[in-house]
Amino acid sequence: MIPPSHPNPLRLGVNIDHVATIRNARGGPHPDPVRAALNAVAAGADGITAHLREDRRHISDEDIARLMGAITLPLNLEMAATPEMVAIALRTRPHAACIVPERRKERTTEGGLDAAGQFKQLSPMVEALSAASIRVSLFIEADPRQIEAAIRLKAPVVEFHTGAYANAQGAARAVELRRIADGAALAARNGIEPHAGHGLNYDNVAAIAAIPQIRELNIGHFLVGEALFIGLDASIRHMRTIMDAAR
Ligand code: PXP
Repeated sequence: MIPPSHPNPLRLGVNIDHVATIRNARGGPHPDPVRAALNAVAAGADGITAHLREDRRHISDEDIARLMGAITLPLNLEMAATPEMVAIALRTRPHAACIVPERRKERTTEGGLDAAGQFKQLSPMVEALSAASIRVSLFIEADPRQIEAAIRLKAPVVEFHTGAYANAQGAARAVELRRIADGAALAARNGIEPHAGHGLNYDNVAAIAAIPQIRELNIGHFLVGEALFIGLDASIRHMRTIMDAAR
């Protein structure tokens, strides 16, 4: 963990969804995502992230309740912009709620939320969550139109979808990186705290971690996959080392 005295700390939120994916492959209790969350905390995570999908394909309602009871660090609940999920968040009171787009057939969250296009639908949700002291984050592309919508929605946080950056190579990756860096600067200038996540790994995380305005990265799939080879503790610690060095 970065010491609190660091002039510009970068937090690591560990997403434990795919521990639940493995558990659900057999339908039993093992491996337990709450145990993974506790291990992540011990390895230096600054928060735990979990996505309660509408189809409950990995994290379950019970996992969220158990996480809230077991972890002392902030829980970032990723959720679709639906009345059901808002009601769950208001009941559960996680530290933060990250609103993500969700399509049932997608394998993962394939792009950012259309905060500009869905302004009317999102506005009362952001308001209700904020009124309950839940820190709202919007998972958007680093696109000025979406950032402006987040400003108008009074979201305190945006998380930039780094999937296109992670998938791009060479010059195309540099373009994506520039887009995220510009987006982070625009968000920060307007009082919004920028975060980033999706598809980050040991090879691509440093350039994102070096963007000074970005305050938190949320990383899951790679860390859980790497844990198969080196263990969860080591996979998180190594990610932290790369992030801290880039800072
Ligand atoms: N941030 C958000 C909002 C996500 O929905 C996800 C998962 O898609 C992540 C971060 C983590 O992405 P990954 O599992 O690729 O590290």
